[in-house]
Amino acid sequence: MQEKYIRNFAIISHIDHGKSTLSDRLMELTGTVSKREMAPQLLDSLSVEQAHGVTVKSRTVQLQYRAKDGQNYRLNLIDTPGHVDFAYEVSKSLAATDGVLLLVDATQGVQAQTVANWRLAHDLGLPMIPVINKVDSAQADVDRVYDELMALDSTLLSKTIYQVSAKTGQGVPELLEGIVKELPSPKGDSNRPLKALVYDSEYDAYLGVITQIRVVDGQLNAGQTLRFMATNKSFQPKEVGVYRPDRTKTNQLSAGEVGYVVTGLKEPKFVKIGDTLTSASKGCQEAVSGFQERQPVVYAGIFPKDDYLSLKEALLKIELNDSALTIAEEHSAALGPGFRVGFLGVFHLQIIQERLASEYGIEVIVTAPNVSYQVRQVQEKEAITVTNPAEFPSFEKIESVEEPIVLGIIDTPGDYLDAVMKLAERYRGTFADLVDQAGGVRLSYRLPLAEIAYDFFNQLKSITHGYASLQTKAIGFEESDLVKVDVQVNYAKVDALAFVTHRSKAAALTQKVVHELKMTIPRRLYPMPVQALVEGKVLARVDVPPLRKNAAVNGEQRSVSKKQALLRRQNVNKRSAAHLDIVLPQEVFNALLSLN
Ligand code: GTP
Repeated sequence: MQEKYIRNFAIISHIDHGKSTLSDRLMELTGTVSKREMAPQLLDSLSVEQAHGVTVKSRTVQLQYRAKDGQNYRLNLIDTPGHVDFAYEVSKSLAATDGVLLLVDATQGVQAQTVANWRLAHDLGLPMIPVINKVDSAQADVDRVYDELMALDSTLLSKTIYQVSAKTGQGVPELLEGIVKELPSPKGDSNRPLKALVYDSEYDAYLGVITQIRVVDGQLNAGQTLRFMATNKSFQPKEVGVYRPDRTKTNQLSAGEVGYVVTGLKEPKFVKIGDTLTSASKGCQEAVSGFQERQPVVYAGIFPKDDYLSLKEALLKIELNDSALTIAEEHSAALGPGFRVGFLGVFHLQIIQERLASEYGIEVIVTAPNVSYQVRQVQEKEAITVTNPAEFPSFEKIESVEEPIVLGIIDTPGDYLDAVMKLAERYRGTFADLVDQAGGVRLSYRLPLAEIAYDFFNQLKSITHGYASLQTKAIGFEESDLVKVDVQVNYAKVDALAFVTHRSKAAALTQKVVHELKMTIPRRLYPMPVQALVEGKVLARVDVPPLRKNAAVNGEQRSVSKKQALLRRQNVNKRSAAHLDIVLPQEVFNALLSLN
């Protein structure tokens, strides 16, 4: 098809503003799927996505649209994930488009992810069509959303702002015309060597890795040997086609087109999002720019509640279609055999936990997440990488510890500047830069990744009422005064509860930890001390109170002093045991999550 009849676009929005519902309506109105086939949110096919109503992996669909000018157009809709943990996937999907629909919920207005996604599209120089959704709702306040959009980007003033209801279909036919009229067609060159951007991939047990690609220049044919440039892996494609919305074979994709390639490769490691696909024989010289290797950001222990082997099998299967995950075996004295798993962020961790439960029926215990550390030991030349606090060398042997540092780039309206600066400093941030820009300011801080990996973004959203956005760039490792906190329950060290923190925070944090543990550790017939230790010294201690059921021994009537004497005796007996015979429930580990 000629490029001038192709439009490649994405819908960007805050979570729950109606992206999937609008995609469904566009498919229905263009006859891509019939009304009968229309299951709600066809694009969100992973069961986690349906349960959360959140898009995790992106999907592409080709819509055939006959416009009012009588021409047939091919509209490639690229669905992007909406959560910050997947920001790299969002920007790669956006790089495969020539324009976006900026979708805003009329009942909620512009939110943090609206701003963050707007900025990604803006930085890529993509034309945007503003769309206000949910106008059917009684809570819709279209005027307010207009004002918020203008405050975000005054250039939107010169554009048509579409008002739609993705639910009822109102305004959607006009929007389809708008996509054809207002968004540009792709500008590639079919005569140049093949250059295609890999913007997504999935794993199929029978077919191997299936990549989703946008052809930038040249022609891709099913008969040609192809090569991934970053991993230098060649292969013979098994099938080439487009999504309508199911895979439909076309055997060819030309410049400007979006589709899939069944690679037949069984090892996902060769296929990286952001890589360039070219011809093995006459390849292009330069790759599509901006490729980044994905690295895990946080690590957590995952332990089976019952069967280790089925957990292992399930994790290996999930790893196949989630190349951002890293898995290593781990043994905990408290929890037994399990795995240390690396994730892109805390939300990614939750998604994996839920996929284990919903797709494989496996319940797990997840320990509090941490980042990785570089630890130098006395008389050792090489620093070691520690991803599990339980494996921290003992403090006498440690010469220095380095932690990962990121540059946090925060875009916020000027009104919140003071509050944001205070927040960054509370999270051990060091000021780097401040510049004015459209719609507010851009603040940069050097921040320890460990400080911001968990709830920093939520805090940022809450103090700025959802207006600020955050991007992070890894800077590297820097030395810091970090200490390992050991936790003992009934005088027995619980390896799975150990964590690392900055020395300046240790005193306050250990107090909080022991109090949280007091509420969550299952009680015994005797009181159990819970202690937090740093470098062998007890910094905080509480007693988990005993179950008192046995105080009235044998139901006999005894004097209060006799009862107390009995309880004291019981304590002494049990205490000498100094071991842990309780099974720790997930709540105990959750107690560590909310701290900072
Ligand atoms: P993520 O995939 O998490 O980014 O969400 P999403 O943006 O795809 O939102 P989704 O389409 O799942 O819609 C969120 C909720 O809003 C659902 O309950 C929809 O039924 C509802 N919704 C979507 N569009 C409309 C609309 O036009 N009107 C009304 N009243 N509700 C809508």
